Amino acid sequence: MSFALIIGASGDIGGACAKRLAAQGWSLYLHYDQHERPVTALLEELTAAYPKQDFLKVQYDFTDETHLDRLTSQLFGVDAVVFAAGMTYYHLFQETTVGELSTLMKVHLLTPMVLLTKLQAKLAVSGRGRVVFIGSVYGAAGSAMEVAYSTVKGAQSAFAKAYAQEVASLGITVNVVAPGAVATKMNAMFDDATLAAVRAEIPAGRFAEPADISFYVASLCAPDAAYLTGQTLYVTGGWLR
Ligand SMILES: NC(=O)c1ccc[n+]([C@@H]2O[C@H](COP(=O)([O-])OP(=O)(O)OC[C@H]3O[C@@H](n4cnc5c(N)ncnc54)[C@H](OP(=O)(O)O)[C@@H]3O)[C@@H](O)[C@H]2O)c1
Repeated sequence: MSFALIIGASGDIGGACAKRLAAQGWSLYLHYDQHERPVTALLEELTAAYPKQDFLKVQYDFTDETHLDRLTSQLFGVDAVVFAAGMTYYHLFQETTVGELSTLMKVHLLTPMVLLTKLQAKLAVSGRGRVVFIGSVYGAAGSAMEVAYSTVKGAQSAFAKAYAQEVASLGITVNVVAPGAVATKMNAMFDDATLAAVRAEIPAGRFAEPADISFYVASLCAPDAAYLTGQTLYVTGGWLR
């Protein structure tokens, strides 16, 4: 049985990835940080729908890159990791605090990188390990008011490009699915007028739903997706790319 670790399964995109992978036969470690309740509900839903698969909750705060053994000690086999945790801060770069920079860098980049050093041996066991980051089109296009966020999202793609080369011979692929604007609670801070202005710029005429993103994540995790690695797939409805 194949096991995927979904980092940020309590979030909207991570939750959609969990549902899609479970439907394709994966057993799952469902990660959360502050919000256990959505993961508990997800676990109950998936256990009822797929009783022959295993679903386990794991908690960890990704602003702490130093105690990852507390997370990895709960994992047995791991065949895929999906990094779908994250947040943004919306203001001018000049107003960015060191705390915000540190949180962005740790949650999106540093802690995932440290975690992969610890999980690589497990990912190599099946000969078809999979790593997928949820990046962002801002990592390529950049965005005023989200300069630090754009920076860490671009760095995820740079990391995937390089790390993919190191682990290709182990059968591990490393890719990024980079959404444009997705209808999730991460955008709850924006008022209706701001959201409408963004929607007007998107050629597809709508925000992505989490399921629009999870489709590509699950596709990249499939056993047959063995020859695409180091890539960033922009899933934007035609926006900015
Ligand atoms: N929504 C968009 O328009 C959009 C566009 C492009 C890219 N993305 C990216 O997609 C990913 C998922 O975002 P989303 O829209 O699904 O947001 P979301 O629904 O707000 O989910 C955010 C997830 O991140 C987790 N998280 C936050 N801080 C954490 C920490 N310190 N340690 C560990 N986990 C933490 C949350 O866990 P808890 O709630 O349990 O604390 C939650 O699972 C992010 O990387 C985001 O940058 C989103």
